[in-house]
Amino acid sequence: MTQASSQNQTLYQQIADELARQITEGIFQPGDKLPSIRKLSQQRSVSIATVQSAYEQLELQHLIESRPQSGFYVRQPVTPSYGGTLSDKSGISRMVSPFGSDSAGNAPSCELPTPDQHTDLSLPTAVSIKQSASEVLRRCQQPELINLGTAIPSPDFLPVKQLQRIMGSLVRKRMDEVVVSVFPPGLEELRNQIAKRMAESGCHVAASEIVITNGCQEALTLCLRAVAQPGDVIAIESPAFVGLLQTIESLGMKALEIPTHPQQGISLEALQLALQQWPVKAVALVPTHNNPLGFTMPDQHRRELLELLKPLNIPVIEDDLFGDLDYSGNRTPAIKAYDEDGLVLYCSSVSKSIASGLRVGWVSGGRYQQQIEFLKSFSSVGTSTLSQMAVAEFMANGGYDRHLRRIQAAYARQVQLMGEAISRWFPEGTTLTRPMGGYILWVGLPGKVDTFQLHHQALEQGIGIMPGKLFSARDHYQNFLRVNCAVPWSEEVEEAVRTLGELARQLPQS
Ligand SMILES: Cc1ncc(COP(=O)(O)O)c(C=O)c1O
Repeated sequence: MTQASSQNQTLYQQIADELARQITEGIFQPGDKLPSIRKLSQQRSVSIATVQSAYEQLELQHLIESRPQSGFYVRQPVTPSYGGTLSDKSGISRMVSPFGSDSAGNAPSCELPTPDQHTDLSLPTAVSIKQSASEVLRRCQQPELINLGTAIPSPDFLPVKQLQRIMGSLVRKRMDEVVVSVFPPGLEELRNQIAKRMAESGCHVAASEIVITNGCQEALTLCLRAVAQPGDVIAIESPAFVGLLQTIESLGMKALEIPTHPQQGISLEALQLALQQWPVKAVALVPTHNNPLGFTMPDQHRRELLELLKPLNIPVIEDDLFGDLDYSGNRTPAIKAYDEDGLVLYCSSVSKSIASGLRVGWVSGGRYQQQIEFLKSFSSVGTSTLSQMAVAEFMANGGYDRHLRRIQAAYARQVQLMGEAISRWFPEGTTLTRPMGGYILWVGLPGKVDTFQLHHQALEQGIGIMPGKLFSARDHYQNFLRVNCAVPWSEEVEEAVRTLGELARQLPQS
């Protein structure tokens, strides 16, 4: 980023923070009109673009709304109170935790307790969730639903206008390139951008060590195929991301669920025990802003994991899909950053940050790189050339960093609002995770209830949720649900949470 653009970024952020504070302190009341863009740019001696960016940021945070031909107005709050965090003097948009933290900056406090750790060590298990998971995902994506189910951000949070401009220009000016397939490892200009971005999380890989894939899902599939065969055992977190379980199932491998702490990540003690008992071929993890638990595995834990696996020559498949979405804007060093032996296969994509519909992901496969490139060439030949060119351009010149800052702030707020609504409406005894990034909450209902039943009842009320059972190969987490918070906050969403809470209260105990 140039110095000028970073100064500009700070300026718009300062203006957005200041206005946000004035709104939460009541200096601007709901329904008040904000100064016009031109007037504010004159008052502050800043450019029109800077004020526009500040207003866009406040819109994303659902603090203000634009009314056609009239200007910008303060929105009616949709919840009675936001607690203390939002009026924190450090500024709204750089909140570290959606649930606040104590004055010493220790673990965030939250009204609802964190879910318990699942502690029993499982046996390697053949997975059989593929069909039920696909049905749930399909149902949750019906257009008329309030989709709190699939972890796909609403277009309100995506850089739709920028992509429209970039893709329009690519189609007009570079159509001869757009119509030609790019064979693996993929478009060089994109791999260069990704190599630069990976350096921010401590991974110093060359562009030649990256293969472009069709999203992170294909990256994970290629990695599993490169390191294991049908029947082999893959150690995973418990609960685990549904797509990983589906992939393990479709490749005929077995999942070994390792107890996972909701704030620290996979238990290394349990993993060590499991490695002594079972012929584990790889460990597949989402260590940063985990799906569904939300934790970020501490640094020391990452190093110890590698120390444990290195002598055994067991590779780690690291899914870093949510790595860019830390609310503080900081990037946690990836496990790959500590990998001196090519044992870590690093996967990611733009699905959570730019757009899942572009299907652009990547893998840096360490010592398995060649094998992955080879597998990619006969699994799907290539990845859409237009998508690759658009992502490369957006990362290089399209304001990707600014976009990230906006969605980090927006997701922090969404997660806070959702957490508060769940605290208000869900039955006593409900538990809730406390992510520091991403936009997913993992909610535990009290007692022995079945959230698959809740899923069906919620669908009848026009609400999609993901039942917890899909996050395990062994039918754990029946009383859990995963909630996607990347839906613009509105009274309908608040009402949907209230309905879910009521339905949850009425679920029969088994
Ligand atoms: C942790 C995790 N990994 C991978 C994926 C798949 O990502 P993509 O859409 O890029 O294939 C998802 C999608 O929700 C996910 O949550």
